[in-house]
Order: sequence, then structure tokens, then C-alpha cells
Amino acid sequence: MPQSADRNRRVTLTTYPKGEPSPDVLRLETGAVPTPGEGQMLLRTEWLSLDPYMRVRMYETDSYMPSVKLGEVMVGGTISRVEISSHPDYVKGDLVQAYSGWQDYALSDGSDVMIKLPQDARHPSWFLGALGMPGFTAWYALTHLGKPKAGETFAVAAATGAVGQIIGQLAKRQGCGVVGIAGGARKCAYATGELGFDACVDHHAPGFPEQLAAACPKGIDIYMENVGGAVLDAVRPLFNNGARISICGLIAHYSGGGMDGADRLPAMLSETLFKRLKIEGFIIFDHYPAYYSGFVSEMTALIDSDEIKVREDLVGSLEAAPQGLIDLLHGGNFGKVVVKVA
Ligand SMILES: NC(=O)c1ccc[n+]([C@@H]2O[C@H](COP(=O)([O-])OP(=O)(O)OC[C@H]3O[C@@H](n4cnc5c(N)ncnc54)[C@H](OP(=O)(O)O)[C@@H]3O)[C@@H](O)[C@H]2O)c1
Repeated sequence: MPQSADRNRRVTLTTYPKGEPSPDVLRLETGAVPTPGEGQMLLRTEWLSLDPYMRVRMYETDSYMPSVKLGEVMVGGTISRVEISSHPDYVKGDLVQAYSGWQDYALSDGSDVMIKLPQDARHPSWFLGALGMPGFTAWYALTHLGKPKAGETFAVAAATGAVGQIIGQLAKRQGCGVVGIAGGARKCAYATGELGFDACVDHHAPGFPEQLAAACPKGIDIYMENVGGAVLDAVRPLFNNGARISICGLIAHYSGGGMDGADRLPAMLSETLFKRLKIEGFIIFDHYPAYYSGFVSEMTALIDSDEIKVREDLVGSLEAAPQGLIDLLHGGNFGKVVVKVA
């Protein structure tokens, strides 16, 4: 129950950044704790997820989701505790995965709640990562788009990040040869040493395209596109006939980088034609009703039996979240980024 002295810390968007954002595009404010009306709940944020899509939500014009309006609280997935409820499906004390955004308290009518966490959830923040949107993205893309067969070569960039660490481990379990691409020797060593990838290539290293080609002697059959840019330039010539490519994310371009340079689209399209590639974009939110609960059961069992490892990168406070997002956009994170809010 919030005390009368409690204030609601909230981080709002001050401006639509052009190019790479700086921390001052986000401002920390305090306000009153809101009071729930009939059918509503008051949620208190315990954990906040930081994710690349947040940069896209800072665009001035809507993309696949509406932009955050100036002065509004920044969007974000949260693990939140129900403090007060007049909602029939939730009681005080329930822990939910919601979309309360970057703030301590939020009202909810339940429509933004993705899941009520199990009472015995060992590690609630995992429902923002391996058991949440990024893990579900990895599972969906591999199972429904990649359709892996044993012996095929699977490649993923941002290999130790929230999506990459899970999809690579799942592909390995399907008998694929797994090649990661990551920023720096430390991340690559983690991918091969801890996550069990067969190889991992540092995209910052000189000779990266040649090293990637050497790591994929049989070409690439399945590619999870997480970044675009120079990484895609190195991956593209390695596609085998009939390769399956999931266009999951293009983080290298989210702040406009590379969009006004040499146009790579014609090369990509001719590769698609000549090699009969199947390229499919997807947004994971479309697939929650059909698959999410089955995914959670399957992934929980894999984590509990230590068949899937989980790595988080902790940001210690809401105040540190703006810099945490900027670090994430530049590869400064090592694992799924979660903010300890309360
Ligand atoms: N379609 C969907 O529904 C959906 C759902 C979830 C995520 N996504 C997308 O999936 C991608 C990964 O998301 P995530 O949550 O797992 O993030 P993440 O991997 O935890 O963090 C982002 C990583 O991207 C890499 N990166 C950043 N800029 C780069 C650049 N210019 N070139 C190469 N790599 C760069 C960095 O890793 P390194 O240092 O290792 O390069 C950074 O750590 C993002 O593009 C995201 O938008 C899409």
C-alpha cells in the first residue's frame, strides 16, 4: 500500500532525438501516486526491462507501434506488484508482467498485463528476458520461421543479448551448428564457453567478414537478423540456397545509421531472388495468444533443468535507466538488461 508520503518517480520523453540519443532526451520527474478507479489496479514497478525497441518508440512519427508523446512516461515492460485492486482477476500481492513504463506506480485495467507470475517464480526478472518477450521472440522465430534441421548452420548476431543468448542455445538443442556474432572477445568467449555455441566472431575485429566466412564453412542455413548494417553485409554472401532469414531487429539502423549511405537493398533483393530466400518479418506481440503459455512451460522446464542458461545485466536504479538504454543501444550491455526499480 503506498504511503501518503510516497511519490511516483517517472521518466518522460523530452524530445524526439535525431541520430544517437543522449541521456537528456529522458527526464526524471516526480508526481503523485495515482488512485485506481473501478475495475483498475495500482501496480508498483519492481523491475523494468530495457529493450532496443525503445529507440523506435522515440521516433516522431509512428512506426509499427505508436510513438511516445513528448512529456509522456517512457514505455517499457515491467514486473509489477499489485498494491490495490478492484479488478476481478487480481488481488493485492500478485506479481504481474505488465507494461507500466519507466515509473514506480501505474494504473492498469489489466489490458497491459501479459501474464500473472507463478507464486513460486524463482527469479521474477526472468519474465522480462528468457521467459518474457525476448525469450519468446527467440523461441517463436526459431520454431516457426527458422524450422531448424539437425546439421544445418544457424547464425545470430547480438549473440549474447536477450534474444541471441536464448535462440542460439535453442538452435544448438535442435542439432544445428551455431555461429554467434558479438561485440568483443569477452562476449564471444561467453557464447562459446558458457552458451555452447560452436563459434562466435567479433564484429569489431579487423577481418570480421573473412573470420565469419571461416566460421561458416558450409554457409548459413538459418539467420536471425537482429542488427543489420555491416554485420548483414558480412552475413549476406554466406547464405545457402533456401536459407531462412527472420528479420527480427535492425538495431544498427534504429538511430538512422546507414540509412542515408550506400543503398544495400538491391543487393539484398537480388540475393533473395537468386537464392530463393524466404524472408519474413514478424512482431512478437501478434503471437502471444497462440503460443505464449506453451512457451513459458517449455522454457521454464529448460531453465529449471539447467539446459538453458540465463544471463542478466543489472541497472541499479530508475535514475540510471536512461544511461542504461544508451549503453544498450551501443553494445554496452552484456546479457538481458533489467532495471531494479523498487
Ligand atoms: N521483432 C520482434 O518482435 C523483436 C522482439 C525482441 C527484440 N527484437 C530485436 O532483436 C534485436 C536484439 O534485441 P535484444 O533485446 O536481444 O537486445 P540485446 O542483444 O540484449 O542488446 C542489443 C545488442 O545489439 C548489438 N548491437 C548494437 N548496435 C549494433 C551494431 N551497430 N552492429 C551490430 N550489433 C549491434 C549489441 O551487441 P554486441 O555488442 O554483441 O554487438 C547490443 O548489446 C534488436 O534489434 C531488437 O529490436 C525484435
